[in-house]
Amino acid sequence: MSVPFYNFNDLHTPEFKAELFERFSKIYDTNGFVEGEYNASFESRFAQMQEAKHCLLVANGTDALEIALEAHGVGQGDKVGVPGITFYATAEAVLNRGAIPVWIDIETESGLICPESTQRVIEQHKLKAIMPVHIYGMAADMEKINSICEQHNVAIIEDAAQAQGAFFENGKPIGSTHNLTTFSFYPTKNLSAFGDAGAILTQSDELALKIKTIRNHGRSELDMLGRNSRCDHMQAAVLDLKLERIEEYNKMRKAVAKHYHTTLKAAELPVTLLSDRHLETSSWHLYPIRVANSEIREKLQAHLQKHEIGCTPFYDQAMHQMKVLKNFKEGETKKAEELAGRSICLPMNPFLKEEDIQKVTSTIKAFF
Ligand SMILES: Cc1ncc(COP(=O)(O)O)c(C=O)c1O
Repeated sequence: MSVPFYNFNDLHTPEFKAELFERFSKIYDTNGFVEGEYNASFESRFAQMQEAKHCLLVANGTDALEIALEAHGVGQGDKVGVPGITFYATAEAVLNRGAIPVWIDIETESGLICPESTQRVIEQHKLKAIMPVHIYGMAADMEKINSICEQHNVAIIEDAAQAQGAFFENGKPIGSTHNLTTFSFYPTKNLSAFGDAGAILTQSDELALKIKTIRNHGRSELDMLGRNSRCDHMQAAVLDLKLERIEEYNKMRKAVAKHYHTTLKAAELPVTLLSDRHLETSSWHLYPIRVANSEIREKLQAHLQKHEIGCTPFYDQAMHQMKVLKNFKEGETKKAEELAGRSICLPMNPFLKEEDIQKVTSTIKAFF
């Protein structure tokens, strides 16, 4: 019995297909290919769910980051704080704006951006913006980070590509702050399109208008040029339909995470789990465990694969260690280096059964 990392078969049920094809058929009949009624419906419902005033759909999560930076006026030569552990796109967006990434260190325990490092890096470098990442689906400590950035007048763009439906510790949803918050709806995300899509949430009317203008070639009363980063109607139709079940599916992910947590803790293995404090609030996009070093991780990965268990090593290198980013050396990177190469993500999807989790945990036990 194999345990898949993702499970699209149970996600895309025959009932879902029938409803979706009805929507596609309507789009076909009305020739409403871009920015149609499902875009409007999704934008309004997703904004409401995440307690934001506006949601603006765009073409993908990387565009969402780039457009958010542009909306804040970040451009050539500006410095932007980026966590030392994240997906390439966070740094790519900075570089695509002609700006310079400055590394902010992370907390080894979670991989989330470290508020103390944020404070030091902001004091040492003149940053125009920072981009905390809600990595694996856990919320970064925005209360502390907001207060540091407010004192120094630094804009914040929260990269929530992995965190649809996640919560802060105060119970508020991600997207509810006064920052721009960006999402990716890549097919493997908790809330996913049938291709690429992304979104930006904001409480600001002014920034919402700017983002709308940028995503559609500058077409508005604002006197500026933009680009094409529209989200097409078919993707919006998928997202709008999937939105109905995201809360239920995130609850199922949480149950899987709790099950992993209890079983792996009880086994007393030489692996480090994420802290219990994330159990209730994370969107559990991924379930990473940390081992002592990259050699053990490679062996564990091979062992799991041999037993047909889907697993992925996230993240192999700290950002500044990547060949393509080696010229960017400013900032703090010690803990990111310590964490890189040591995490492996176990299968995580809402449809994992008791026996799947049992197989994963007993295979890990057997390895050690
Ligand atoms: C943290 C993070 N930021 C940004 C992105 C980019 O999203 P997209 O692939 O939709 O451009 C991803 C995608 O996986 C991500 O994980």
